[in-house]
Amino acid sequence: MTKHLITSALPYVNGLPHLGHLVGCLLPADVYARYLRQKGEEVLFICGTDEHGTPSEVGADREGMDVVDYCKKYHDLHVQMYQGFNLSFDYFGRTSSDQNKEIVYRIFKALDQNGLITERTTKQVYSPDDERYLPDSYVMGTCPHCGYDKAKGDQCEHCTKVLDPTDLIHPKSVLSGSSNIEIRETKHLFLELPKLEKELALWIETKKGLWPDIAYSIACKWLKEGLQERGITRDLKWGFSVPKDGFNDKVFYVWFDAPIGYIGITKQWADECPESRNWETWWLNAPDVRHTEFMGKDNIPFHTISFPATLKGTGEEWTQVAFLKGMNYLNYAGGKFSKSAHRGVFLDDALTEFPADYWRYWLMANAPESDDSSFSFDLFAGTVNKDLNDVLGNFINRVLKMIGNNFGNTVPSLGPVTEEEENLYAETDRLVHLYGDAMNRLEFRKAISALRELWVLGNNYIAKTEPWKVLKTNSTYGGTILNTAMNLILLYAKLSAPVMPETAAKIQALFLTNHALDWPTGTAADYLKTIRGGEPFALTEPLFKKILPEQVTELKLKYKETE
Ligand code: 2FM
Ligand code: ZN
Repeated sequence: MTKHLITSALPYVNGLPHLGHLVGCLLPADVYARYLRQKGEEVLFICGTDEHGTPSEVGADREGMDVVDYCKKYHDLHVQMYQGFNLSFDYFGRTSSDQNKEIVYRIFKALDQNGLITERTTKQVYSPDDERYLPDSYVMGTCPHCGYDKAKGDQCEHCTKVLDPTDLIHPKSVLSGSSNIEIRETKHLFLELPKLEKELALWIETKKGLWPDIAYSIACKWLKEGLQERGITRDLKWGFSVPKDGFNDKVFYVWFDAPIGYIGITKQWADECPESRNWETWWLNAPDVRHTEFMGKDNIPFHTISFPATLKGTGEEWTQVAFLKGMNYLNYAGGKFSKSAHRGVFLDDALTEFPADYWRYWLMANAPESDDSSFSFDLFAGTVNKDLNDVLGNFINRVLKMIGNNFGNTVPSLGPVTEEEENLYAETDRLVHLYGDAMNRLEFRKAISALRELWVLGNNYIAKTEPWKVLKTNSTYGGTILNTAMNLILLYAKLSAPVMPETAAKIQALFLTNHALDWPTGTAADYLKTIRGGEPFALTEPLFKKILPEQVTELKLKYKETE
């Protein structure tokens, strides 16, 4: 049987995550993992913090902390926030772990033995005032093409031309502002991607029609432009030191050890419980493993080209990505997310305002799948008020109240069904299939739209059959309608569980007889008869609260969202 390895891109430890990060990889990966588990599949869901590189060193300096303590502090903050959002990782590890170091060294040595690592002398910017080499993006100056005076050394954001820091006119350090900049020659190790190009191209060709367009087309674009040797070492202190003579004072480039982190973190997971877990069964000679990766679109080249090539170059059978879900960006209506400017919604703040499920639902219903999408509090409140309160919440409240008033706190029996129920069964079947098919294809907006249609279907069924009237003349059929409605409520709990796990658990708790939140089997004519007459249930507070217009106004001000 296929085993599902699910990975979300590993968030940089130094940046606190906001809604864009959540919907860009972590949340869709979680929804998919939960869906597969619900269907009884074997799933391993891996993520962790991406910790090496200059931003961590600089961040630690800024806070006057040792970089190791700094990374631990921020790693723990990430963990806290993701727990708050109920992200169901099997393991949330760290790229700086010993386990990752072990795998990075193993892969590096294999590449070296296979003649795929070469030495080159490169020119790099050194800032004596900062006492460090500066990565390209940490050098700022005037663009030689358009004259923009805040161009970064890797790219001019004004004219979009790709730059080399040595191209800049009047270059200076982004960190200290010092224009005392030296260009020093330094030796680095490179991965010979051109030697792997043919093999990689053949492999990527097999993904045509299988990978989503965004992933396949980005991979093809890179191949078409021809692969370049890629530097995999850096002159920094924070990172894994390079185990090769002449290079011991350098560290691996963060983008070399980060994707290997998926494997290293799996080993962290296995090491916690070695009697029952084995990382190799997921990563080496494992044809039964299907690896699905989730990431923002900027990460696609690393995951379709450099990381697969790194694994291929070892000559070993490492698990390669089978399906890659690339997401576009979620923008914030008020401009760029910025923690320091208090603009945009960061995950810690989000949870102080509303329950996790409100956010989870809104983000998945508006996931930036085929294009960038935008968050605003008006849109958010609109969806929460309509979909969650008026449609799902209202249906549940009405049904429970009607049963409570007419039958006490027990579910009425199902009597003979009519054409109305037969129609309901047929439409439910259609929508449940639509939902499942969309989930299988990882088309989340379509899936959520089918879920919403199922909730609407329940409301329409009640509106059409009018049980409050039927009960006055025909309590048997009135009971049948309400029994069916109770079964719809259980179905909604099951199908909502991957997206809104807390809400699903609350609905599940209404039923005092234990009903698992597994995937419905058979047809609606079967599973809409799961709850039988006489089963007790508990009345509950409404599941959702509306967001009022004055709250929206306050939130817009608080999070700097302007019209
Ligand atoms: O873009 C990012 O947030 C990176 N830290 C993603 C790394 S994914 C994997 F390669 F680790
Ligand atoms: Zn320019």
